[in-house]
Amino acid sequence: MSPILDINNLYKSYGTTEILKDINVSIEPGDFLVLVGPSGCGKSTLLNCIAGLEPITGGAISIDGKDMTHVSPKDRDIAMVFQSYALYPTMTVAKNITFGMKVRGVDQATQDKKLAQVAAQLQIEPLLNRRPGQLSGGQRQRVAMGRALVRDPKLFLFDEPLSNLDAKLRVEMRTEIKALHQNLGASMVYVTHDQIEAMTLATKIVVMKGGVIQQIGSPSEIYNRPANLFVADFMGSPAMNLIPAKAHRAADGTRIEIARNSGGPIVLTDTKNRDLPEDVILGVRPEDIADPDLRGSDATQAADCLIDIVEPAGADTFAVMQLGGKHVTARLHAETTAKPGHSKRLSFDLGKVSYFAPETGLRLN
Ligand SMILES: Nc1ncnc2c1ncn2[C@@H]1O[C@H](COP(=O)(O)OP(=O)(O)O)[C@@H](O)[C@H]1O
Ligand SMILES: [Mg+2]
Repeated sequence: MSPILDINNLYKSYGTTEILKDINVSIEPGDFLVLVGPSGCGKSTLLNCIAGLEPITGGAISIDGKDMTHVSPKDRDIAMVFQSYALYPTMTVAKNITFGMKVRGVDQATQDKKLAQVAAQLQIEPLLNRRPGQLSGGQRQRVAMGRALVRDPKLFLFDEPLSNLDAKLRVEMRTEIKALHQNLGASMVYVTHDQIEAMTLATKIVVMKGGVIQQIGSPSEIYNRPANLFVADFMGSPAMNLIPAKAHRAADGTRIEIARNSGGPIVLTDTKNRDLPEDVILGVRPEDIADPDLRGSDATQAADCLIDIVEPAGADTFAVMQLGGKHVTARLHAETTAKPGHSKRLSFDLGKVSYFAPETGLRLN
């Protein structure tokens, strides 16, 4: 299969300020690509470059095998849904959805057929005669999607389409967008600063920071094998614990020493990762620190930990302690016996940990 979108060595500057640096991404037909990163990292700029709304400073963009680098937005066969929805306030929902087809000279019968099809798909038939001012945020969002859907484009582009909705509706619309993608099998590029949205929607994630790609991978690769400390910290909630530790080679593996506030260090033996430098940052997800005998693989190692804070959160209870001079969070069972001010034996799943070099922040294992 040839890529539906192929971005090669893309650079983008505004004046002398370089915004995007050496971007290389390609996706297959049917992929749901999510560009994720903190505000200001260049996500919208990259999406606008793909759309042709912004000229690029260097590199090339091709869509479905055709070089689009210098092609105008209307000839790129894309449809874009913006955060603001950009609906025409004086037109009805039906007119908003069909307007683009009308401009392109599509005949009335085809317009009607497409409108009916998309209205059914998005369940907005009862709204077709209303104006945008008479719709809720979620309904406006659907209309904006409808306008993109009638185009049947090679590529859908979304710029934070859910960020104006309240939390509950955002989660509902997220599921709808995912269902829509599954039903259409369409190729999508979706921008968000929300790492949970990225994890739940994407088939492929690009994590960006400061205009530079930090990692490209499937949600599980990004979550389980973050390429550096930035990705490890950004993706996942509560965040991955990043604990300064010492590694020493031993006959049966590597001894990992983690300082405690009082008493000697915790010592764990990692039998898998044998080639670590002395100073490491140990990355361990909250769910990989557990009540013993509840979870864990063969590589699980137990240690006594002094619990500072216990936070019940419904299905889980979070326990916070101090290790290696950092707050460390464990995701425990709701019925855990952990109590603040008391020591608790916890098991660390070393089969799932990440190690990073303190100086470069890069992944070591
Ligand atoms: N038209 C512009 N002129 C100059 N700088 C811009 C322009 N648009 C965006 N930028 C800058 O480019 C950077 C990336 O912006 P943007 O792509 O909007 O980030 P994101 O969508 O990830 O929040 C920001 O530092 C922003 O200030
Ligand atoms: Mg943006």
